Amino acid sequence: MTHISVIGCGYLGAVHAAAMASVGHTVIGVDTDTQKLQKLENYQPPFFEPGLAELLEAGQAEQSAGNEGADGTSQRLLFTSDISRAAEASVHFICVGTPQSQDSNAADMTYVNSAINDLMPHLKPGDLVVGKSTVPVGSAAELAKKVAPTGAKLAWNPEFLREGHAVEDTLRPDRIIYGVESGSEDDPAVAILDQVYAHNLRGGEAGAAGEVGVAGEAGAVTPRIVMDYQTAELVKTAANSFLATKISFINAMAELCETAGGDVAVLADAIGMDKRIGRRFLNAGLGFGGGCLPKDIRAFIARADELGVEQAVSFLREVDSINLRRRARMVDLTREALGGDLSGKRIAVLGIAFKPNTDDVRDSPALDVAERLEQAGAQVVITDPEAIENARRRDPELTYAPDLTEALTGADGVVLLTEWPQYKNLDPVAAGELVAQKIIVDGRNVVDRRAYREAGWTVRGLGRQE
Ligand code: UDX
Repeated sequence: MTHISVIGCGYLGAVHAAAMASVGHTVIGVDTDTQKLQKLENYQPPFFEPGLAELLEAGQAEQSAGNEGADGTSQRLLFTSDISRAAEASVHFICVGTPQSQDSNAADMTYVNSAINDLMPHLKPGDLVVGKSTVPVGSAAELAKKVAPTGAKLAWNPEFLREGHAVEDTLRPDRIIYGVESGSEDDPAVAILDQVYAHNLRGGEAGAAGEVGVAGEAGAVTPRIVMDYQTAELVKTAANSFLATKISFINAMAELCETAGGDVAVLADAIGMDKRIGRRFLNAGLGFGGGCLPKDIRAFIARADELGVEQAVSFLREVDSINLRRRARMVDLTREALGGDLSGKRIAVLGIAFKPNTDDVRDSPALDVAERLEQAGAQVVITDPEAIENARRRDPELTYAPDLTEALTGADGVVLLTEWPQYKNLDPVAAGELVAQKIIVDGRNVVDRRAYREAGWTVRGLGRQE
């Protein structure tokens, strides 16, 4: 088993640290955010992520040595603000964020650079620093040079987890990518990473996970691909760009359906049956948001520009604009549905997270639309099962109602912006008794339109006819 440090304990790092401990490694998680740490030190998730609480709990398991806490006992998983504790580990994962820069589209590398700077004094010859953060191509080669004087090596090991499925995606990823200095299988970093991911690579047996109750699926072998740094960095950026393009493609078709006539949901089903295309990520609606897709495609354009190959990814500018146009269209459609004027209209906003099963509102299309509706004179009442506190922190001016019934009561219109199951499966008859006017605009194309119409509702959807 390996002694691991994880620098940065957000959506990526906290889940990675807990997952690594659950399969038997000794893990020290380091973060500078005291509020987050307070929760993690008590093995409580600092954000909403299904399955994380159970995984953290498993990390409390005592062990005979390594990871001694203040009380002298030794835990499989410990969290601290003291980066010098990373000296006890030999493999160090960099899991800090790379948000969009304040003044440009480029990725802000401040947190990655300071994580490496803070870690440097504690590195020893033979250690491996493993980058997981999404970085512009070329960063890993630079960082490898920087850590070289300590005798440590660097690998790039991008992470593809989806929020809301982060535990599952971390424990059982589709593939594992090793970007290593030589780009080849015999690089010393490969053997180290193989030990870290032994539970995924072994197959045929449940890993050490069984010991702490979070078992790796017996028999499942995850493909792992060894490559150079640049390819590893690009795998992540290319994957996110492809996914964003797929969503914007179907949303462009939605624009066409809106003007030419046609139903984008039927269109998506029909083209999705072609196995070369596939139905996943073809849900037309309000488009993509969150802490990854939007900023990653912008950072990719910025990096390509720096490299003088801007043309190669200029289509991503269009992907971004199609995505943003959906938000404006949603406001227009709501205005149309409500008779041409939004002023003074009470609108129930169902969902404010950027997608279901998360409390994350970073670049949330739902929050953007709610703000635009309010600016257009509507009085929005927002409900969401998990994301209200985060949304309130971003926009305290808006009105929030934790209770769905309260949000619906007296509404002149309902807009569904995040497809949480409870909104998707809302009973149109019961909801119809609460609202002032039975008008719903489905920003995610998920409600049963026929059931709503039978209950007397007017239903509008992006890319669909009345
Ligand atoms: C994404 C990538 O999937 C993940 O591999 C990467 O590591 C981080 O970025 P995430 O941001 O958690 O993950 O969300 P994802 O499930 O990919 O959804 C992204 C956005 O696209 C959401 O706003 C979602 O609502 C939207 N979306 C998704 C659509 O609008 N239509 C679809 O068909 C699918």
